[in-house]
Amino acid sequence: RSIALQTSLFTRRVREYMSYGYSQADAERKVATYTARPGTSEHNLGLAIDFFDSSTNLTSAFESTAQGKWLKANAYKYGFIMRYPKDKQDITKVIYEPWHWRYVGVETAKELKASGQVLEEYLGVS
Ligand code: DAL
Ligand code: ZN
Repeated sequence: RSIALQTSLFTRRVREYMSYGYSQADAERKVATYTARPGTSEHNLGLAIDFFDSSTNLTSAFESTAQGKWLKANAYKYGFIMRYPKDKQDITKVIYEPWHWRYVGVETAKELKASGQVLEEYLGVS
């Protein structure tokens, strides 16, 4: 995902909140909980993939699909982590995104799977 596309997604959503009366700063804070600020998305780095199917699209319902369950059980073996788990939203500052998987390498993914930590905890930046 290019930074231009991230900018377009982010800006469109910020404008939408501002149309409901949010200040720009509040709108940006709100949007950043589900669309990263341009230039800060793991998609812009090429390290993340969003998986979804047409029945769930990008919703938490993806967790109950066969694909979502497979990813949760197996993705770490291939070096991917669920980057924004449900029980770590206070640490990641991002909503639960069972569809967003980030590559960290097999060794780190195994450590994170075993410890239950998110990247912020692992890196000591939470
Ligand atoms: N949805 C995630 C936070 C992103 O935009 O990278
Ligand atoms: Zn994503």
